[in-house]
Amino acid sequence: MKAVKIKENVYWVGAIDWNLRNFHGYLTQRGSTYNSYLIIDEKITLIDNVKSYMFEEQLERIQSVIDPGKIDIIIQNHIEMDHSGSLPLILKYCPKAEIYATAKGAEGLNRHFKQDWAINVVKGGMTLSLGKRELAFVPTPMVHWPDNMVSYSAYDKILFSNDAFGQHIASQERFDHDYSLGILAEEAAKYYANIVLPYGAQVVKALNAVSGLDIEWILPSHGLIWHERINEILAMYDNWANNRTAKKALIIYDSMWGSTEMMAKMIRNTFSESGVTAEFHNLQGTHISDLMTTILDARYICLGSPTLNNNILPTMAAFLTYLQGLAPKGRIGLAFGSYGWGGQSVPILDKALDEMKFERLSPIKLKFIPDASELTAASEQLKKEIVKYTE
Ligand code: FEO
Repeated sequence: MKAVKIKENVYWVGAIDWNLRNFHGYLTQRGSTYNSYLIIDEKITLIDNVKSYMFEEQLERIQSVIDPGKIDIIIQNHIEMDHSGSLPLILKYCPKAEIYATAKGAEGLNRHFKQDWAINVVKGGMTLSLGKRELAFVPTPMVHWPDNMVSYSAYDKILFSNDAFGQHIASQERFDHDYSLGILAEEAAKYYANIVLPYGAQVVKALNAVSGLDIEWILPSHGLIWHERINEILAMYDNWANNRTAKKALIIYDSMWGSTEMMAKMIRNTFSESGVTAEFHNLQGTHISDLMTTILDARYICLGSPTLNNNILPTMAAFLTYLQGLAPKGRIGLAFGSYGWGGQSVPILDKALDEMKFERLSPIKLKFIPDASELTAASEQLKKEIVKYTE
């Protein structure tokens, strides 16, 4: 396992997790990488680490450049275990290395590893001389943990961005220009939707904080390095963080005997006939983390469930919990579903959409198997309401 040279004296020494398919509930179909970077200067510096079980790979890559005992400085931009897991292991090779992290990062590392490391606490505006290079630190709290920061080397025009701009992709390629922009954009969107989405306001602040920097390279902690597509990824983050959506409706449902599915099809067709792109997903067929990706640019979120045991279907309950946690903002919601007698599912969904502060279209609730006239009437009503938003 060899290091990959990025620029003179800057190397990628991370690990490729080809078989990762579940990242705390996020389906990682393409695996992932944990990116660690090595800077050779008067002070030899390691930026971020890898998951503990991938340490041997990180170590071999470091050893392909230098003796790890020569590492002077370890920058821990973020303490989540996918980036800090191997810290105690690498410290066995370089016990005198100085660790740098934010105050929250220092507290978290010592608590997590049950240590009393004397960690150097980094504040915004602080710089650290490595020799030819000076590293500047920009705290980015809640993008996506309280401890997060990014580091910048003006000498290299490199932003070490940690989770920001990451993608869960395992690949031999390391650079954006060696990879499909379509897949990069899709995985960056999925990453944002499933990890960063609740923190749009903080992302806007972080984008402002780095906007004055001369950046030729963005080195994230997952996936490929941004170099030739920096404008594209910055524009994507700007759109996502500012909740800019497209004229698109997402119909997400599950059905017991096909009645709620009939309604879902009617809603899909109604949006489509109203000039709004409609996507149609049965919860039995699409993973909730993929649904979040498609929500990223959807203006309308339509949720359908029949009533089961005075409640919604468990598939919809699981999705709703995930959606509420990720908290997209500024959307228009629609609750729908069929029922036999109690009919509790639609009010439950409508209340959940209200609690997410979405504007709402009138809920659609039909008894037993909807007939053609009921579906037509509901469609006509829905069309009138969509017009208000599309004129
Ligand atoms: Fe990739 Fe927040 O860890």
